Amino acid sequence: MKRVAVVGAGTMGNGIAHVFAQKDWDVRLVDVSPPALEKAVATIRGSLDRQIKKGKGTEAQRDAVLARITTSTELAAADGDLVIEAATEDPDLKLGLFAELDRLAPKNAILASNTSSISITTLAARTSRPEAVVGMHFMNPVPVMALVEVIRGQATSDATTAVVMDVARQLGKTPVEVSDYPGFVSNRILMPMINEAIYCLMEGVASAESIDTVMRLGMNHPMGPLALADLIGLDTCLAIMNVLHDGLGDDKYRACPLLKRMVAAGQLGRKSGRGFYAYQ
Ligand SMILES: NC(=O)c1ccc[n+]([C@@H]2O[C@H](COP(=O)([O-])OP(=O)(O)OC[C@H]3O[C@@H](n4cnc5c(N)ncnc54)[C@H](O)[C@@H]3O)[C@@H](O)[C@H]2O)c1
Repeated sequence: MKRVAVVGAGTMGNGIAHVFAQKDWDVRLVDVSPPALEKAVATIRGSLDRQIKKGKGTEAQRDAVLARITTSTELAAADGDLVIEAATEDPDLKLGLFAELDRLAPKNAILASNTSSISITTLAARTSRPEAVVGMHFMNPVPVMALVEVIRGQATSDATTAVVMDVARQLGKTPVEVSDYPGFVSNRILMPMINEAIYCLMEGVASAESIDTVMRLGMNHPMGPLALADLIGLDTCLAIMNVLHDGLGDDKYRACPLLKRMVAAGQLGRKSGRGFYAYQ
């Protein structure tokens, strides 16, 4: 396997394309939005330039990584041995994408999703190859974070799981296998904590800065939950809370009204320039 297609070139898609290209894979990066593709390539270039400044790479290496990435707005270009879907966290959108990818991708390709919470089993059921559908959940920012959560759907085969675990190791990551339940392990635990931090802000328990400082200095978290929500994207956080609420049926997973209001106002965090904090 040496060719990967990444569908969705946003926060996660560009990071996934980056780490594969850096390990000599040919990368097809697909997005419906041409500006998203341009921004993705500019982000990868910026990240490689920062590495050069730190003495961790050369301009020739940067150019070689960028040359391995081709971009397209056509889903038909997603013809990798491994296809990783990293589009918007919207169940209907992803269900449609998996049916389309099953039709368009090579018959022996593995179809993986970077979804934060949506059922891999449900996505697989839209394809004719459920044994070759798997969750490959990278963490943000992808070039920095070591974990890949590998999610087995009801029909995911041992062979598919083994290949994806091996690919994650080839990328220098540590894969952890988990079962297909809403939010898997990472977001089942992380997202209710972020949601609770937003309740604290809404109820005036403390300011955003104070809430984040308590969690950074008191719990030794590298960043506070509200700053982390801005990094993840508030729309993605809301989508994950909705999946936890629907899938687990417990009101402890209800999304905080302030989170809903900020998403409705387009305050999505870093990607929109404003969330709990303001960004340039
Ligand atoms: N943001 C995070 O911290 C994080 C972490 C782990 C996993 N994820 C997951 O990764 C996935 C992507 O999240 P993101 O934060 O990169 O979102 P994002 O909003 O930054 O980017 C999503 C991209 O998908 C594109 N897109 C939408 N419909 C498409 C289609 N039909 N075909 C191709 N591209 C399409 C959009 O144009 C956009 O560029 C989601 O499933 C999310 O849950 C996100």
